[in-house]
Amino acid sequence: MARVIVVGSGVAGLLTAVRASRRHEVLLLTKGVLGDGSTRHAQGGVAVALAPSDSAVAHAADTLRAGAGLGDPAAVTVLCEEGPDAVAALTALGVAFDRDGDGLALGREAAHSTRRIVHAGGDSTGREIVRALTAAVRRGPVRVREHTALVDLVVVDGSVAGVRVRAPDGARVLMADAVVIATGGAGRLYPHTTNPPGATGDGTAAAYREGAELADLEFYQFHPTALAVPGTPLVSEAVRGEGAVLRDEHGERFMLGVHPDAELAPRDVVARGIARAMAAQGGRPVVLDATALGAELVAARFPGVTAICASAGFDLAREPVPVTPAAHYWMGGVRTDASGRTSIPGLLAVGECARTGVHGANRLASNSLLEGAVFAVRAAAALDEVEPARARTERAAGAIAAPLAAPSASASASATTDAPAPLREELQRVLWRHVGLERDAAGLEAALTRIDALAEAANDSPSTARALEDRNLLLLGRLIAEAALAREESRGAHHRTDHPAPDPAQARSRVVTRQEALA
Ligand code: FAD
Ligand code: SIN
Repeated sequence: MARVIVVGSGVAGLLTAVRASRRHEVLLLTKGVLGDGSTRHAQGGVAVALAPSDSAVAHAADTLRAGAGLGDPAAVTVLCEEGPDAVAALTALGVAFDRDGDGLALGREAAHSTRRIVHAGGDSTGREIVRALTAAVRRGPVRVREHTALVDLVVVDGSVAGVRVRAPDGARVLMADAVVIATGGAGRLYPHTTNPPGATGDGTAAAYREGAELADLEFYQFHPTALAVPGTPLVSEAVRGEGAVLRDEHGERFMLGVHPDAELAPRDVVARGIARAMAAQGGRPVVLDATALGAELVAARFPGVTAICASAGFDLAREPVPVTPAAHYWMGGVRTDASGRTSIPGLLAVGECARTGVHGANRLASNSLLEGAVFAVRAAAALDEVEPARARTERAAGAIAAPLAAPSASASASATTDAPAPLREELQRVLWRHVGLERDAAGLEAALTRIDALAEAANDSPSTARALEDRNLLLLGRLIAEAALAREESRGAHHRTDHPAPDPAQARSRVVTRQEALA
């Protein structure tokens, strides 16, 4: 039995913790309350080949097509072949997916060749997954520490031996035989994002600082349809999957002229189509028109999106609603093998923070919850190989000086406010403008110069929750801009206006490590 620390409580962290706790002593740390993160906001559902007319091969083909030449066929095969078992594992833990007759109801989303999206509560899939998995964690034996933020990894003799955390009762070091980071994405790099406030890439940044390999950092996915109101909440792609269309301010369906699949073209194509239509109309949002779907279908299938629209004063079933692209999902992350192992022994990564190779340059809709579930099960199994290393960790414990100032009594582990402070606001502005949906060399160079100036001005021994997150955002923003500058072509979610075509010679992933950067 090994001592395992799992960091993060979205689908990846919760499921890894539950599965690992069957054989190991598991401590689950999370920045806010149990179950916070992007998972709980997920709407569309989980892509999985369940229909008799569907197959893992067809799902894999769609996934690789979306990945634009960078998906890893072996990882994609694992994802698609093991998807049904992962959905069964979620169901066994109490996730109540919507049913249609004898089987699960299957929705449709862009770039899938068939209906294969299982969902729950209509469009509240993430909430249902989190409800069931947090209940499973609460049943034990997993120990949980909420409001406890990973700050850095502890590496001893080249292997991970624990974590440095910031918690309400102080900064401390927690030792372990293995650490699984499941800290999600980094949507807060951008001012307009569907991600919650804690999405600041903490685990990815911590892994990089200790020398872990990261890959595919230039590929950030922008969801085409966030509601164009403050906070940019998501309007699920499944709404377009059921027949809603996009119109410009003249009422024209502009996507018909952009791609044969129109509104159901790959995400990057639709997002850029919308951005260009918005630019042509002075930056004003386009609209998503779901009025032809009928009020009954909209209410039954999209209660969550209907409520989101209603809270902003819009009636989804009866009027077109304003939409705009927003940062949504990071394909890049900590490079892992097919069982979540990173390049640092004892460190595993699962979920959005991991780069397993399944998404390539562009993630297919609803493949992320699936990835989180499939690779959580695999990572938990891989923990069986971990050798308890008490001597190593105890030696390390003696060697580690407490690096952080103790938090103030009022401090929480997460800077969970939506209002960005000036440094973060400026970083977000720079990334949106120069490292967003479209990039070019001059803009990326300007972004790097500005990010370096912001980093220079930032506190170099941060101790508040916000300053620690800002340190991570500055680091990751720089790494994305560097990777985007280095990739002199357009592919998937990475679009260079100065290199608008794909270049077959660059059809490979870029791997970066801190050692390489220092060399
Ligand atoms: P998350 O669910 O984001 O969880 C990360 C966890 O790590 C959180 O608990 C967070 O608090 C914790 N954490 C972060 N930093 C620290 C730290 N320093 N210390 C301790 N804990 C930390 N994908 C689909 O497949 N289907 C969908 O329908 C879908 N809809 C989406 C809708 C929205 C609005 C969003 C934002 C995303 C959607 N996605 C969807 C993407 C998908 O939800 C996410 O990629 C996925 O849920 C990520 O799961 P995760 O467990 O890796 O991370
Ligand atoms: C959505 O419901 O549009 C989000 C699906 C996803 O991000 O995979």
